[in-house]
Amino acid sequence: MTDSTSKHSNALAFLLSRSSTDHLVEPAPDKAQIAAILSAGLRAPDHGKMRPWRYIVVKGKHRRPFAELVTRAMKSVDPDVPQKKIEKRLHRFSEMPMIIALGMHIEPGGKIPVIEQEMSAAAGVMNVLNALHAEGFGGFWVTGEFADDPEFLATIGLNPPDRLAGFLFVGTPERAVREARRPDISDYMAFWKSEPVSFGAES
Ligand SMILES: Cc1cc2nc3c(=O)[nH]c(=O)nc-3n(C[C@H](O)[C@H](O)[C@H](O)COP(=O)(O)O)c2cc1C
Repeated sequence: MTDSTSKHSNALAFLLSRSSTDHLVEPAPDKAQIAAILSAGLRAPDHGKMRPWRYIVVKGKHRRPFAELVTRAMKSVDPDVPQKKIEKRLHRFSEMPMIIALGMHIEPGGKIPVIEQEMSAAAGVMNVLNALHAEGFGGFWVTGEFADDPEFLATIGLNPPDRLAGFLFVGTPERAVREARRPDISDYMAFWKSEPVSFGAES
């Protein structure tokens, strides 16, 4: 067996040990580390080599102005948004050690359906979450209705039909991440035996 086909004995246990956390403190990955981690995103399956991944990394002194853009977009999408919600988001986006806006470069009207391009972008995000975990960092994927605001998207370099898949909060877990209770695989898989299957998850 070559190196790429041999079994990595701890890899599955490692994948099963990942949990999201937004209790994140410094340090965030440095420049070389985040480039290596984001490279894992570019290993996602990608039908037609569409390369939809666009990662916008926000750190240091740029976090506060970015957080202000977020709150401006929140108000633009919903002028009645409660002040408390605004302040919470302002605080979160200013205080996270690093934020990665998850851009999706979309090319509609071609051979590859838009949904496949979006799924490739999302698969990339999952790889990035696992790569963060592998390097001892933590991550948390969030979205928000404001993320569709065209003015906000333009300020980070995304123009229609490009979109955002959300944001990753990134940093060092403040404490050991508590193992989340996970669903039982037996409710989510079935062997097809020449007739329609049913899932325990639905019962
Ligand atoms: C596309 C996407 C968007 C999400 N948006 C939010 C969000 O805005 N707020 C939130 O609390 N969790 C959000 N989540 C869920 C968290 O990222 C996380 O998956 C969840 O807390 C469960 O943690 P786990 O990854 O350890 O299972 C989102 C997940 C996905 C896949």
